[in-house]
Amino acid sequence: MGRIFAIMSGKGGVGKSTLAAALAECYARQEMRTVLLDGDVGLRCADLLLGMQDRMIYDLGDLVEKNCPLEQAMVRHPSLSSLSLVAAPQMMSASDLKRKDMGRVITQLSDASDVLIIDAPAGIGRNLKNLLGAAAEPVIVATPDDVCLRDAERLSLLLTQREEPRPVVVFNRVNRRLVRLGEMRTPAQMAATLDMPLMGAVPDSPKVYRALLHHRGALHCGDDKVVSAIEHIAARLMGEDVPLERYKPSAFLSFFMEGGEA
Ligand SMILES: Nc1ncnc2c1ncn2[C@@H]1O[C@H](COP(=O)(O)OP(=O)(O)OP(=O)(O)O)[C@@H](O)[C@H]1O
Ligand SMILES: [Mg+2]
Repeated sequence: MGRIFAIMSGKGGVGKSTLAAALAECYARQEMRTVLLDGDVGLRCADLLLGMQDRMIYDLGDLVEKNCPLEQAMVRHPSLSSLSLVAAPQMMSASDLKRKDMGRVITQLSDASDVLIIDAPAGIGRNLKNLLGAAAEPVIVATPDDVCLRDAERLSLLLTQREEPRPVVVFNRVNRRLVRLGEMRTPAQMAATLDMPLMGAVPDSPKVYRALLHHRGALHCGDDKVVSAIEHIAARLMGEDVPLERYKPSAFLSFFMEGGEA
């Protein structure tokens, strides 16, 4: 059985799918057998992010209902032979996925891979538990705004009620300039507030948006800082000791932003 990461968030639109697809690519490039499971039932998107929208025939719903063998729902990426995608069903709702059936499918996918990445739907709905096998390691994605941080904290609390594994956090869309100006907290400060281990921070970059618009993943966005941040997060999740990128407020700039008052 391989590692299972569940990419989750309290608030929607924070970049879970973007990160899940990019992490999957990172591991597949390292020749690890990687499966990306789109768990956003009814709102599939990972196929678009990987440019695989024309290849998907079967999906997670077919696996749950035993309509096809595992291999048919695991669709191979056109250029990364180690990466397979299982699409989310479009015509089902999360409540249709029973916990027992999902547990069976997740175990099968995990047995067939070195890394299984579940792109989970946003929020803390009751069905979320059905989606996560007991062994899934929760990775909470949050953006640096207060609403999102509060939702992340709430999700973390709910997840912490489970035994193990404990959730870790990744911050997305961090603006280095605002951090330097003292207008945005550093990733380390935000992680300390949430009391969660920090796996890294991905800069906010218009190049990510453009890449996704052309159905290319974030690793192909052309912004070196985004790419290395994601590669480092992938390594840290695997237990590698990669130093965190430095985000520091500048005392000099903050002083001027506050109108030069001591
Ligand atoms: N680091 C980034 N810099 C700039 N834009 C980003 C970044 N990460 C993600 N985005 C943009 O944010 C939007 C939402 O991303 P994404 O769909 O991955 O979020 P999500 O958390 O999966 O959303 P949902 O909760 O609806 O599933 C996309 O338009 C994407 O291009
Ligand atoms: Mg998503």
